[in-house]
Amino acid sequence: MTTDTKASWHRNLFEHRSALFAVAMTVAISIGGIVEIVPMYTLAAKADTLAGVTPYTPLELAGRDIYVSEGCYNCHSQMVRPFRDETLRYGAWSRADEYQFDRPFQLGSRRIGPDVHRLGGKYPDAWHWEHMRDPRSTSPGSIMPPYPWLYEKTYDVEDIQASMKAMQTLGVPYSDQDIASAGENIQAQAAAIVANVGATGATAKGDEQVVALIAYMQRLGVDGRAALEAEAKAGGQ
Ligand code: HEC
Repeated sequence: MTTDTKASWHRNLFEHRSALFAVAMTVAISIGGIVEIVPMYTLAAKADTLAGVTPYTPLELAGRDIYVSEGCYNCHSQMVRPFRDETLRYGAWSRADEYQFDRPFQLGSRRIGPDVHRLGGKYPDAWHWEHMRDPRSTSPGSIMPPYPWLYEKTYDVEDIQASMKAMQTLGVPYSDQDIASAGENIQAQAAAIVANVGATGATAKGDEQVVALIAYMQRLGVDGRAALEAEAKAGGQ
């Protein structure tokens, strides 16, 4: 080991002593690891405040697959951060356990459009129907692209059942009965959306991909929301 009197303390203390440097590096990296891991366990302890987070219905799951395949995550995040400007704009900040049935997560990394984690219930179904067809018709000046093909392409019940099976193997608690009865479940949920869209004069058949996407969007951030809002109020958020 040489000590260079002109060099910085860092060079003399660490960079000339590789064993010590390795130890110091391990300590520094461990701190980073601990900071990431500890909240995972402390948040899990609070999971009971979010009782009521349940898996997506088959139609919502289909909508989620469309959200992923269309790359909506390139412009939309699904994570409200715990900052005042975000909670004022979007609502309660996102909790880890809200994503427990999201495989994979759709946190996103860019916001060219707004965060959509608390989107459920913000607009009527008919608004989404219009917006997806022509974003500028509901949001003047929008740079979001239109998605006309979602009104022509249909979803496939067998594909949705296959998707549910895949989720089942990943630990999402769909029963075999849930999968077997997916068809009726989808029909009932789609019929409600068709009725809501129809009330404004538009005609939806119910098997269009956009119907599944609307079901998914209306579900986002809904589970456990009441508990989160109460908590936010109590915490003065
Ligand atoms: C090129 C970026 C881009 C892509 C891709 C994109 N969006 Fe958007 N989105 C935007 C922008 C910008 C806005 C804000 C203006 C508006 O309402 O149209 C927006 C707004 C929205 C809103 C209204 C949110 C709110 O809270 O007001 C919804 C819902 C939405 N997008 C859904 C989607 C879905 C679903 C997809 C994928 C099929 C998608 N977007 C793809 C840019 C994008």
